Amino acid sequence: MSENSSAPRHEEAPVGVNALIPNTARIMDYLLGGTANFASDRAVGDTAFVNWPGEPGGAEGVRVDLHAARDALGRIVGHLAGDCGIRQFLDLASGLPTMGNTHEAARRAAPGCRVVYVDNEPSVAAHGQALLAGDPDTVFLDGDFRDPQDILDRAAKVLDFSQPVGFILFGVLHFVEDADGPGRIPADLLAAVPSGSCLALSHFAKDDTDVALNAMLTEMDKQTGDSVVRRTRSEVERFFDGMDVMPPGVVRTELWRPPQGTPGPEPLPMWCGVARKR
Ligand SMILES: C[S@@+](CC[C@H](N)C(=O)[O-])C[C@H]1O[C@@H](n2cnc3c(N)ncnc32)[C@H](O)[C@@H]1O
Repeated sequence: MSENSSAPRHEEAPVGVNALIPNTARIMDYLLGGTANFASDRAVGDTAFVNWPGEPGGAEGVRVDLHAARDALGRIVGHLAGDCGIRQFLDLASGLPTMGNTHEAARRAAPGCRVVYVDNEPSVAAHGQALLAGDPDTVFLDGDFRDPQDILDRAAKVLDFSQPVGFILFGVLHFVEDADGPGRIPADLLAAVPSGSCLALSHFAKDDTDVALNAMLTEMDKQTGDSVVRRTRSEVERFFDGMDVMPPGVVRTELWRPPQGTPGPEPLPMWCGVARKR
């Protein structure tokens, strides 16, 4: 679906999608102004974020911050495709490939890029597959990023692992507890690809002592069933161990090479960084 799509909102759920159960990816699509969402998602989107901090705060603030995060993803993917020669991407825990998606950002920079999206929520995968039907270079897999080998095996039908790959782990590793070793996920993925491959990730930040934000995250987790592990900048930097981190390093997401002269919204409580395999 194009970002500029003027398609009317459709309430008919694709096969395998239960429109009555709200879903994080569709709530996000709603807040970004997309059409791949249902009344249940919009109800949560309108109510769960009243405590989101900043100016503007609340659901409007979430919209501003989500757009800033998607813009950063677009800049990063565009940089990897346009300046680093990456022609294939694996986007893990992608949510729905609607607003500000990876394949359109990549192809704006370099036509013909191939993209594999992965999400373990069956209804997101079913919905994603329906949205991408007819695009031979883009595939949506129902898979769990905590099993990187399974993802690599299945993605190999579309991606050529003898060539550099761009791994997109946006908003992913904060779903993994320390006890489950989140660092092994990027390490296993990168072990399967050649030098020149890249890792881009964003991650909820811990440094804030923002009571309102923490209350909002707890409420959001309750409503969506997710739980989030927030980490410090140095903890996030460790995910890039042994790689060459690109300037400006690990920064707040909207500060990753912002367009010149753009003041940007209040800093998002998310770290973001991009690195190249040696
Ligand atoms: C908030 S969305 C993030 C979307 C996108 N990565 C972004 O940052 O814009 C989180 C997505 O992660 C998916 N997810 C959570 N745990 C997962 C796992 N273990 N494997 C694959 N997907 C997962 C959820 O189903 C949801 O669609």
